[in-house]
Parts: sequence; C-alpha cells; structure tokens
Amino acid sequence: MRATFFASMLDSVPPAQIPIVMSLSEQLKKIEVNARNGLAGAADLAALDAWHADYLSKKGSLTEILKGLKDLSPDEKRSTGALANTVREALESAFLARKREISQAEINERLKSETYDALRPRSSHRGHLHPLTQITEELEDLFSFMGFTILDGPEVETDENNFGKLNFSDDHPARDMQDTIWTAQEGVLLRTHTSSVQVRAMQILKPPFRILAPGRCFRYEETDASHENTFNQAEGMMIGENLSVANLIHVMKTFLSSFFEREVTVRLRPGYFPFVEPGFELDIQCLVCGGPGCPVCKHSGWVELLPCGMVHPNVLRQGGLNPEKWNGFAFGLGLSRLVMMRYGIEDIRHFMSGNLRFLEQFPA
Ligand code: PHE
Repeated sequence: MRATFFASMLDSVPPAQIPIVMSLSEQLKKIEVNARNGLAGAADLAALDAWHADYLSKKGSLTEILKGLKDLSPDEKRSTGALANTVREALESAFLARKREISQAEINERLKSETYDALRPRSSHRGHLHPLTQITEELEDLFSFMGFTILDGPEVETDENNFGKLNFSDDHPARDMQDTIWTAQEGVLLRTHTSSVQVRAMQILKPPFRILAPGRCFRYEETDASHENTFNQAEGMMIGENLSVANLIHVMKTFLSSFFEREVTVRLRPGYFPFVEPGFELDIQCLVCGGPGCPVCKHSGWVELLPCGMVHPNVLRQGGLNPEKWNGFAFGLGLSRLVMMRYGIEDIRHFMSGNLRFLEQFPA
C-alpha cells in the first residue's frame, strides 16, 4: 500500500485540470485513512518499518504532499499546515502503539514455540563438590582410618534426642525459642547440633564403639561473620572401658595433626555442656603465627577449635549403657570452622551464599 501515487498523480495532472485535484486538506485526510489501514495491515516489524518509510519519513507521502503548501494563500497555508501536523502526530502515535502490539505478539509467539532445555549442557565447565562436602568426605576417611564408624542422623529431630537424653534440663536456656528452630509439631525441631546422633548411636551399637556423625545443624540465630543459622558439624564419640581425658587428647591430636598436616599443640580449658563432665574447650596453638599472636588468633596465640568432654553418666544411662562399666568421650567438630582455618576464610556466610566466585576457589 504505497501512497506515493499521490505525488506522481499530481505530477501527471496537466496544470489546466488542477481544479479536479483534491485540495491539500482532502489529500491529507485521505492519506491518513490509507495510512491507518496500512498500519492495521502491517503484520510484523519489517512491514511496520516499510510503512514508516512510506508515510512518515522525509521521502514519505506526507512530506511530499506538504511541498504543495508553498502554492497556497497564507490563510490556507496556516490551516493546512496545522492539519498536517495533527495528522503527522496522530500517525506517529498510532505507529508506536502498533509497534508495541506487534512486538508483544512476536514475544508471545516465541514463548509459545521456544522451549528451554535445562539439562542441555551449555559449556564444558565442570562443577565440583562444595568445600563443606569435601571436608566431610576427608574427615570420614580420616576417622574411618582411626577405627570410627560413620553414622548419619536426621536433621529433623525430637526434643528428646536433641536435648532430653543429653541431660538438658527442661528449663535449659538452649531449648529457648531464641536458639532453636521448632517445627509446627510439638516436640519436633531442627537439630541444633549433631550430638543427637550420640543418643541414637548408643541405642543401635553395642559398646565398645567409636562413631563420627557429620551433618547439618540449625539455629535460630542472627547471622554475622562467624554465625550462620545453618552450619555443619561432625559429632565424635568413643565408648569403651576405662577411657580417660588422655585418650581424648590423643585422638584429637592425632586427628588435628593429620588434618593440618603438621604437628599441632593443643590445650584444654574448662567448658560447660550438659552432656559431658568434665567438659572442655580444646584450643590449638595458632597455625598462622605459631604462638606469639596475630590477627587470626586475636593476638592470644591460641584458637578455640572444638568443644569436647567425658560423656556424662546420665547420658550413658539414658542411652541404655551402664555407667559403672562403660565410659567415653565426645567431641564436636565445627566443619565450617575447620575449612575457614585451613583456607583463611573470613566470613562463614560465604558457604551458604551460593556465590560461584567463592565456591570456584575450592576445586576438588
Ligand atoms: N554439641 C555441642 C555444640 O554444638 C558441642 C559438643 C559436642 C560439646 C560434643 C561437647 C561434646 O555446641
């Protein structure tokens, strides 16, 4: 529907017959009608561009027709000029509206026909295990080598296994809403530590035994550089006859030296946990400065690494073991902490961030 025929028609009309030619305003109105029809018929963006060239470009019919303005009287010039502007503006905005319509229709059409194949490999880039998974597997190997059985336990636990049988009194502050994420079901929570697996171990294994139970734990906690609401621990427990703090220290030193691949110096400080007596905080001499003090050990020369202690007789009893015959020790390894120490990671929140720039630094 090219409209340039108006111009050529005028060219071909002999001057004597000009009176039968439409007035400029009539021609403008006719152009507008044609243009609107053409617009409605333009089916895609390419047709739309051609339409724009035909009507509204410098060489389009509207411009062409206005060349005739110069022959009009000043009054006619003014009124026809104003009409021409109105027509141009109306056509411009009709053009834009149609363009939006067509673009939307094209997008809808594409959405209908295109499918997204989430399984299609997009590059040869290979993923790897999360650093916490890597360390879990490493610990499992190390402790298996030392005769420990690897155990798993549920992340959704009973109050009984998470607290009750671990000698937490009913009014112990750790049961408070402040720390624990409770489920809608009464007495069911997200485990706050892997110590719940100690309780299960005593019920299913015959002593003597050694277990390591790695897994995720959850606390209702404000997060900061050293606190996460989801974190990974590994619970260790060794049950036997006549075990002592010396055995605990030996196992810890053996493990830590092979984990850090160098001799580590440890010290015990008293620490309180309802399920161990005596309970300790085990510190290691700072691996960064070796003792004199640095920012990593907050200038103390020591880094607090893991809580541990001798299993409380009440816990043994609740687990069905006779405390007159059996005893043992337990320890809790903070896996995030160990990875942070090893690689000098300053913020625990990186682990759960899903940030590939962080994760890609730990290829397996
Ligand atoms: N379960 C304790 C905690 O998460 C740590 C711990 C484990 C302490 C084993 C002593 C013995 O805080």
